[in-house]
Amino acid sequence: MRPALVRDAFELYDGWVGGREGSSGVVDLQKSYYPLIFRYTVRLMGMTEYASDSQALQKMQDAFWATQNNSDFFTTIMPWLPQPRLIRRLIGAFTLWRMVKVTLDQRIKSGAKEDDFAQLLIDEGKAPASISRFVIGGLMAGILNTIGTGAYSIAFLGADQALQKKAREELIEGLRACAERRGDDYDDLTDQQRLERVSLEEWEADFKTIHLVFKETIRLLDAKGKPRARLVIEGHPIEDDTYIAVAPSANLHDADLFADPLKFDITRYERGEGPNEYTYVAWGYGRHKCTGMRFAKLETTLSMAALLLAYDFQSTDDAGKPYTSDTLPLSDLSQNHWRTPTRPLRVRAQRRTAEHP
Ligand code: HEM
Repeated sequence: MRPALVRDAFELYDGWVGGREGSSGVVDLQKSYYPLIFRYTVRLMGMTEYASDSQALQKMQDAFWATQNNSDFFTTIMPWLPQPRLIRRLIGAFTLWRMVKVTLDQRIKSGAKEDDFAQLLIDEGKAPASISRFVIGGLMAGILNTIGTGAYSIAFLGADQALQKKAREELIEGLRACAERRGDDYDDLTDQQRLERVSLEEWEADFKTIHLVFKETIRLLDAKGKPRARLVIEGHPIEDDTYIAVAPSANLHDADLFADPLKFDITRYERGEGPNEYTYVAWGYGRHKCTGMRFAKLETTLSMAALLLAYDFQSTDDAGKPYTSDTLPLSDLSQNHWRTPTRPLRVRAQRRTAEHP
């Protein structure tokens, strides 16, 4: 699947600069990056058929966002009160369910094989209704956390040119080393080949700065509250062995664990902050730890690597004024998964060429 993921990334970024021949462009990061993660998740979970049909994929995305962006306090507390949001949400849910079901039935009937989770379940003989539920649940779990954190990883790299340079140099050095290990000549390879030939294990072990940017972005964005000195709920300090449900941000923004917790700072991990899954709880821990963690890391690392390799980029406001990592507007941290930044956020991308290395 990795070659397809790399191809998807380059295709998306070509679109950012006006096509294959384009050299530069300015995009709204949320609108322009999220479709990539949607496509990736469709490739992984199902139905892969949609990943190569951009019109159908767009229809699926619209239906997906109709379910997500039309849920709020009232649709949760009074789910059957007729109101426009509820209708839009139901139409979205029905469209999504129907698209998955129709394609699934066709695949089963024709005996075609695809490389996704839906296929594993078909091969195990699971009932189509339970496969559809799994695919739709998988799309939700796979997309909602990964879109905003991936987009902001790019935004932070775009807001700190020194960090971007470091990440790019390290990436190129790492890709060269991978090519050498395989016996390839790095300079003879296209950017697509340089990335798609890297093994999963190499993606996981190398490219430290890219991983740290993603890690720190997840920590920072996982916010619902103000930084606090220690975990106290309703005035009660939490004792050992107490059973509680707690939002990850209670740890991730605890100033005792992460100094200056609302600052983006990848060097904090080198200083020993967040040393294990009980302090860095962004993925959960124990029995229900995120099952998609490796995929989330792979897809975000790959998409960042493709951008770094082929483009220079800068995070700006809508007038083109550059942001720094201190001025970069975060999303309203209590709002839904779309993560609209509190002020306009754009990314200006410039294709790297021999003249613009
Ligand atoms: C930045 C990306 C992501 C973050 C930060 C994240 C975070 C989490 C967290 C905190 C949990 C709850 C763990 C708990 O209850 O203790 C979780 C569960 C889960 N995640 Fe993720 N996730 C991400 C991406 C993904 C992706 C890409 C997939 C699938 C492709 C996925 C699939 C799941 C599933 C299926 C569960 C439920 C696990 C269970 O209940 O046993 N996640 N995730």
